[in-house]
Amino acid sequence: MSPLPENLSIASLQVHADDDLAVTSDVAAPLHVSTTFRYPSNPADLQTAGDLFSALDAGELSHNDIPHIYSRYTQPVSSRAEAVLSKIIGGHAVLYSSGLSAFHAAMIYYNPKNVFIGDGYHGCHGILHILERNNGTKIHSLDADPEILQPGDVIHLETPVNPTGLAFDITHYAKIAHDRKAFLVIDATFAPPPLQDPFKWGADLVMHSATKYFGGHSDLLAGVLVTKDPKVETTLKADRNYIGTITASLESWLLLRSLRTYSYRIKIQAESANAIVKYFYENRAKFPVLKKIYHSSVQVLDEDQEKVAFIKEQLPLGGGPVFSIEVADEEIAKTLPSKTSLFHHATSLGGVESLIEWRAMSDPTIQRTLLRISVGVEDTQDLINDLSQAFNQYN
Ligand SMILES: Cc1ncc(COP(=O)(O)O)c(C=O)c1O
Repeated sequence: MSPLPENLSIASLQVHADDDLAVTSDVAAPLHVSTTFRYPSNPADLQTAGDLFSALDAGELSHNDIPHIYSRYTQPVSSRAEAVLSKIIGGHAVLYSSGLSAFHAAMIYYNPKNVFIGDGYHGCHGILHILERNNGTKIHSLDADPEILQPGDVIHLETPVNPTGLAFDITHYAKIAHDRKAFLVIDATFAPPPLQDPFKWGADLVMHSATKYFGGHSDLLAGVLVTKDPKVETTLKADRNYIGTITASLESWLLLRSLRTYSYRIKIQAESANAIVKYFYENRAKFPVLKKIYHSSVQVLDEDQEKVAFIKEQLPLGGGPVFSIEVADEEIAKTLPSKTSLFHHATSLGGVESLIEWRAMSDPTIQRTLLRISVGVEDTQDLINDLSQAFNQYN
């Protein structure tokens, strides 16, 4: 095949960015299950791991040129998925066995003494508590005094944030971090490309739970860190070899297969969520059970315009496919999911199936009247009708 032209859109890249890594003539990527790979048969071609790392460090080799050796380091299918994610997200993507193992790898890489972190996925807090217990890492609130930050420390910002889908200004936190020679890590799971590009607004490292939109079918666990710096990529991959958290073959294959249709899924899911939020926001007087709707698109309507101006810039296509609602009381929050037909009562998000979760089920820190809704690919009007009839059962 001829080389790929420059400036392809995500829709083309998700299908072709890994074409040059195909080692067979199969059109659909094969699943490779081998854990070990033969060294070159010609002794003159043998390069030790040390040779390869020196060549990587010198920029003489890219990760894609490295032969596979052992699948804890690299293997063909995860490398292909990394090639696609690198193009979609716009950097060097390193895959992990889950979103949390990606976050853990970021913390091992930066090894911060202080971490600023806000609300958000409770699992990232769980990892920080382990680091606090073992290493004395200090955990501070997102808006703690910037003077606390030392060079090499980390601000970890999740935006839009789990579970509400509310957005935070990446530029603001990038400035605070960089003024103190600290780093900004963005968990962008709730608004993957093309919804938001954290690098454009100053992120040093972008993280996603690939279990969500990149996987998209609620059938695999994966995580990804993305860096603009090839040297950081080299270190992350070397570290990953020792912590043993590469995405396994089958999971990588499922992910690669899912990525082929990714841009269409995220577009439909985000458009649908924005339309559903708009409908219930505009018609909230008709649904007394509904006390509040949380989503970045509602922030734009409700909050001080100067404060939320960043949202239109950083989420130009609208908010992501997850939003939350608060209902009148805990009993309603508990029972409402059983009144819907198209929303499974389950945790997680990002799959083709719409989900609703009484969030207290999995996050002990959250208010007990909150329901999180993840919009799938079903018809928007059907989803509005389903939620409306569920809300109406409490009139
Ligand atoms: C925002 C966010 N970050 C990270 C994670 C962790 O990802 P994983 O479940 O793939 O480990 C999740 C999981 O729900 C999440 O919602």
